[in-house]
Amino acid sequence: MSREQEKRVAGRHAAGLVEDGMRIGLGTGSTVRHLVEALGERGADIICLATSAATEQLAAAQGLRLMTAEEAGRLDLTIDGADEIDPRLNLTKGGGGAHVREKIVAHMSDRFVVIADVGKLVPALGPFGTPLEALAWARGPVTRSLRALGATEVRWRKTPSDNGNPVADAHFGTISDPVALAAAIDAVPGMVGHGLFPGAWVERAVIGAGTEVREVRAADAGTP
Ligand code: A5P
Repeated sequence: MSREQEKRVAGRHAAGLVEDGMRIGLGTGSTVRHLVEALGERGADIICLATSAATEQLAAAQGLRLMTAEEAGRLDLTIDGADEIDPRLNLTKGGGGAHVREKIVAHMSDRFVVIADVGKLVPALGPFGTPLEALAWARGPVTRSLRALGATEVRWRKTPSDNGNPVADAHFGTISDPVALAAAIDAVPGMVGHGLFPGAWVERAVIGAGTEVREVRAADAGTP
């Protein structure tokens, strides 16, 4: 079973959590694509807030109703992908550069569910790198601040985020305390946001593993 098929299994399974009448946050990425297609196929009567221009276009093409962040208020449920998931459901996100909007939308939601192929489960966050977004003017000082926090490498991507800001990947090796590192990066002046998400936000992870779906709950993962 390929990774793509596992993403499909997870995305389609998670579509079953969405009920008509809900206000839904839609994440970004190739796993979310399967979710959105499943919701479109069944003609789900929902209203959605998308975390990227790409997801917005996909959802519109699937006939889903969309609202802006301004209009949205509280959301019932957000479903999004991840690049790394540790045993406490802490996440690395932002492979697609959408992590700032993804974090805002997750924070607006009563429930946050992560969908991924089994290859995203890691013993500790870090190998993927930590995506971040910063003010273009502050790129130099931000790079130096990240190095002072222990980043061995900070690589700026060619493509800016949907917000028009530069995106980078910082490498901190194995991250032993993602919550503490998240707080330290948040405190860097010029930082717009980063892709470390706390496990405490995650209701469950829906994992495609072969042809099966595994659900990992925060309680199972030992999140306080
Ligand atoms: C987008 O910026 C990311 O946070 C995605 O959610 C993450 O990269 C997962 O993407 P895939 O589902 O494509 O693996």
